[in-house]
Amino acid sequence: MADGRLPDPTPAVRLSDATVRLGGRDIWSHVDLVVEPGTFVAVLGPNGAGKSTLVKAVLGVVPLSGGRIEVFGRPPGEGGRDIGYLPQRRSFDAGMRVRGVDVVRMGVDGDRWGLPLPWGSARRARDARVDEAIDMVGAGDYAGRPIGEVSGGEQQRLLIAQALVRHPRLLLLDEPLDSLDLPNQAAVASLISDISRASGITVLIVAHDVNPIASALDAVVYVAQGKAVSGTPDDVITTGTLSALYGTPIEVLTTSDGRRVVVGQPDAASHHAGPHGHTHGHTHDHGGSE
Ligand SMILES: Nc1ncnc2c1ncn2[C@@H]1O[C@H](COP(=O)(O)OP(=O)(O)OP(=O)(O)O)[C@@H](O)[C@H]1O
Ligand SMILES: [Mg+2]
Repeated sequence: MADGRLPDPTPAVRLSDATVRLGGRDIWSHVDLVVEPGTFVAVLGPNGAGKSTLVKAVLGVVPLSGGRIEVFGRPPGEGGRDIGYLPQRRSFDAGMRVRGVDVVRMGVDGDRWGLPLPWGSARRARDARVDEAIDMVGAGDYAGRPIGEVSGGEQQRLLIAQALVRHPRLLLLDEPLDSLDLPNQAAVASLISDISRASGITVLIVAHDVNPIASALDAVVYVAQGKAVSGTPDDVITTGTLSALYGTPIEVLTTSDGRRVVVGQPDAASHHAGPHGHTHGHTHDHGGSE
């Protein structure tokens, strides 16, 4: 590991026979899953499958109706400052005057509303962390501008900095690449994987499309049809596994330089395509985008 410690044998996340029931139905059930510390893991699957629910269960905000979840060997919700979280679908309207640097600082102080601001050395330590996080995501040039004025990709980087500012051991990112163009998807994906490798952070990233992140992944969790399956990208990103999970033909092609490209993955136009849903084939070829 980068900091020279011995590898920690406790999994970052472990689900054992876990079931979540919401609105009178099981979203997914009997899920067994281990996320090794320091790995970069994608959570994939169709809309409505329960990917965000999985992230919220790991956070401890959605309770299990059966089974167990442990986060670094402890019940979820006790991780506190060990976890950085970027929720799905964030936006700042154009008139928002709060600066990027303030948004990042909320990652440190967000749970301190109403408490006195830190001062003196505590304040300097906090500001140093904020600057470091802004540096890590390369947002120095625009962190001083109102967040509503910077581009979607720049906002995304600032929000990743906000999630990083407490030095979490586990980063939960729910679709951090949505609304980014292809070059920015690739850039933000490689930024997250570089940060994960350099600092030993475990990353669980929900992604709509595996192609932009495929090369960085250590493992994949597929959530579909009430189940979750995990494995190496080689095992899970296959024609057979994906077609079975999505209930529609999906082809996995390998490009001449060895990258995998998923073709026919149901896209956002085919929400909730289960075994009986109809789907629109869609090609996601992000090959030449880097
Ligand atoms: N509080 C709730 N009560 C009832 N049903 C819920 C609740 N929260 C989520 N659901 C349902 O659980 C299912 C899974 O939702 P979830 O947000 O986890 O899906 P997802 O895989 O993240 O989808 P997307 O790709 O659209 O973000 C959906 O059918 C959703 O409507
Ligand atoms: Mg979701």
